[in-house]
Amino acid sequence: MTNSNSNTPVTYSTENNIGIITVDYAPVNALSQSVRQELIDGIEQFENDDAVKAIVIRCKGRTFIAGADIKEFGAAPLEPHLPDVVNRIEACNKPVIASLFGTTLGGGFEVALACHYRVAIASAKVGLPEVNLGLIPGAGGTQRLPRVVGVKKALEMITSGKHYSVKDFSTSDLFASIFDTNADLDQATLQFAESLVEKTDQSLSKVGERAIKNDIDSWSEVISSVKKKSKGKEAPNVAVSILKASLDLDLKKGMALEREEFLKLKESEQSAALRFAFGAERLASKTDLKAEYIDVKSVGITGGGTMGSGIATAFLSSGFKVVLIEQNDDALALGKNRIEKNFAGNVKRGRLSQEQIDGYLSSLTTSIDYQSLSDCELVIEAVFENMDVKKVIFKQFDQVCKASCILATNTSYLDINEIASVVSDPSRVIGMHFFSPANIMKLLEVIQADKSSDQALATAMAVAKKLKKISVLVGVCFGFAGNRMYTRYGREVQQMLLEGAKVAQIDNALTSWGMAMGQLAVGDMSGLDIGYHARSSKPAPEYDKGYFKPAELMYKLGRYGRKTSKGYYQYDENGKASNDPLVDQLISEKAKELGFEQKEFDDDEIAQRAILALISEGLQLLKDGIVKRASDIDVIWLHGYGFPRHKGGPMFQAKQMGKDELESEFEKLRKLESVEIWPEIDLSLIF
Ligand code: 3HC
Repeated sequence: MTNSNSNTPVTYSTENNIGIITVDYAPVNALSQSVRQELIDGIEQFENDDAVKAIVIRCKGRTFIAGADIKEFGAAPLEPHLPDVVNRIEACNKPVIASLFGTTLGGGFEVALACHYRVAIASAKVGLPEVNLGLIPGAGGTQRLPRVVGVKKALEMITSGKHYSVKDFSTSDLFASIFDTNADLDQATLQFAESLVEKTDQSLSKVGERAIKNDIDSWSEVISSVKKKSKGKEAPNVAVSILKASLDLDLKKGMALEREEFLKLKESEQSAALRFAFGAERLASKTDLKAEYIDVKSVGITGGGTMGSGIATAFLSSGFKVVLIEQNDDALALGKNRIEKNFAGNVKRGRLSQEQIDGYLSSLTTSIDYQSLSDCELVIEAVFENMDVKKVIFKQFDQVCKASCILATNTSYLDINEIASVVSDPSRVIGMHFFSPANIMKLLEVIQADKSSDQALATAMAVAKKLKKISVLVGVCFGFAGNRMYTRYGREVQQMLLEGAKVAQIDNALTSWGMAMGQLAVGDMSGLDIGYHARSSKPAPEYDKGYFKPAELMYKLGRYGRKTSKGYYQYDENGKASNDPLVDQLISEKAKELGFEQKEFDDDEIAQRAILALISEGLQLLKDGIVKRASDIDVIWLHGYGFPRHKGGPMFQAKQMGKDELESEFEKLRKLESVEIWPEIDLSLIF
């Protein structure tokens, strides 16, 4: 039997007495309306076919079904709804077997849970990642999973949204069989199905008919722990309340409750933001570069400090060969030691074995001779921010590297065009701005200088993918996209300090709004001397009388932040921060000296003004062509600066605010400060 239209994403076939439903809907077999309809049709056709004794649901391509079709979430739900599909599968009077590989996620896992048996290849993963999209499972996931693995494990899976190896469930009956990674999954599944048919006892194992396994000792502990971990996200907390309420409900009522809450969350601002972030991240890597990338195997890194060693660690752990260059043997030994320490953290956390680390470290070569870079396809300069030093290094690169080698700088602020001017072929010079710690932070700004070739840029983007980083292509300006906006954000915080807001109040307002850290606490952490020196390479704007004056005050008092135990805050011997009233007093005196009027701020005003500053600078970046897409700015802020993911990013926020409100807020700030600080800008750039 086959379905009439061969272009459909689902096909039906039979082998012996087994009916096979095959989903083939690239890229990830998502449950679009037609997939849902054809799953039901397939089940019904095979149910009515006397020759068929058992039914297999399997997929082609890279994975079993990876969830509902996210592309359909913007519109009204279309029939058949997924809960009806999964219930129809479970109600089938013949055994239905799901055959899992790849990542079976969300609705895909809910389909599998409704099947009477699940078999999987050992490398397969499962999960309910809906919370990452601001949702809860909406097709029985909150109901069937606790009936198999217990409420505790189900809650862990649903509230974390993580992917789990099928092998983690070898002691439960979630999987009837887990096949060896090298097995032929289709064949093994058919054999399993045939063995079922041969069994005389044909009673079906329906998860929905089981009782929920309540293994929670204290709900109040669960509620407060999920609330703490979810950091302002609604969905994990809704999941907890649904599971708690479901203890007293049958499957039908539990699913109705789940669906109601799922649909409410789907309309929420948080879900819109998280779904937007999912799409924006994938869009960021799509460019119109017209060249093939070079296949990089060996990378040279100059500078074994915090940044260089972090970059080296990232490359080594993604299977690249690394040549680390330093000025002398002592500096090399320190650099190597930093790399080893970065890896050691992973052993402690159980992420890597010592054997794996030894393998990675065997790909590291250290040298004080630039000639050792001659085989590299990519070299990255990661020394301190000094133009003259960087130029000397690039001249060395020019002499020793092969002609096709890409020459990258990790500068955070300096002019890459000037750096490129010292090499004979500037088309191979680009920026690769990693964020610290480079072996952990996911963001990479790939910077296009005036003469950078498409091939050099495409290579950096491809390398980023191998490093499992999220890369965004940006142009050259002081601070590029992220740090230029960060400077503007910091400037507004400084202004508010001078207008009367207090240090702790500003940071609390920002973290309560959702930022991972307060802006002033970040300054103390990264070192106020670093910020001071970075700014001093450029004159302060004349129209801005308070420009980073509180920061300058801290610097001149030797209060560099955590490293001197004093900055905006004071730190005890254990590094615990506390408020220092002297700082607020000194800033207020400075403000009076500069002629600022002091006033009381409320927290919302602080957060709103800081975010508006980000939006204003983001718009300037778009206008200047430094960034091509507003969503790229959001990706930079989500992954480089601790912007809350459930708020989508600064430009997403701008769109939520709407054109009129944005214009009126900017106008108020123009009157309060000046048009130079809040420039008139064409909002049609984003609306
Ligand atoms: N719907 C539609 N498209 C999807 C999709 C989905 N659920 N999941 C992934 N895609 C698309 C991506 O947008 C991307 O498209 P592109 O090539 O045009 O950019 C393509 O598939 C490949 O995705 P990735 O680049 O992310 O590929 P990876 O191999 O790195 O990752 C993945 C694959 C692990 C499946 C990852 O894409 C992922 O996590 N997807 C989201 C899964 C998910 O959240 N499922 C739950 C959906 S909500 C739900 O099911 C509700 C239900 O309970 C009712």
